[in-house]
Amino acid sequence: MRTALFPGSFDPVTNGHLDVIERASSLFDKIFVAIAINSEKNPLFSFDERKALLEEVCSRFDNVVVDAFDGLLVDAARKFDVSAVIRGLRAISDFEYEFQMAMMNRALSEKCETIFLMPKPAYSFLSSRMIKEIAMFGGDVSPFVPPAVAEALGRKKANLQ
Ligand code: PNS
Repeated sequence: MRTALFPGSFDPVTNGHLDVIERASSLFDKIFVAIAINSEKNPLFSFDERKALLEEVCSRFDNVVVDAFDGLLVDAARKFDVSAVIRGLRAISDFEYEFQMAMMNRALSEKCETIFLMPKPAYSFLSSRMIKEIAMFGGDVSPFVPPAVAEALGRKKANLQ
């Protein structure tokens, strides 16, 4: 059974993440989408909110499981016993950081292979950070995120006001 880990902050999950999850789910028998618990000091969405949103939008894939990890990615890859780590590459600008991370992870654990998947060009400019900024200033994020995430961003904005 070929399994892979797709790690990230997912604060919040975007259509770009979903595109990568869909591609990965067709290549592997099982995908663990793993939310990094302590990756960002100040996430907009709590861990439970990010997990609930991911579970809702991933429910259409029967081989995708939403989970979490804390600490080093290589330790999580070992714990989940996966064949590969999946990362999305949107543009050349992502490459340097992603290459560095993949090589560092391999230096930490020789068995840790990273596979890069490119989302549709239409999603190549999406980032969770920009989407949060647009939503908090009242812009329309519905083309960029699943409806459940757009609604959650709307509620978050209303609660913060
Ligand atoms: O959603 P992001 O910010 O692109 O996710 C980055 C993440 C969480 C995958 C990365 O920061 C990570 O792997 N953090 C865990 C700590 C770790 O292993 N650091 C060393 C990587 S070289």
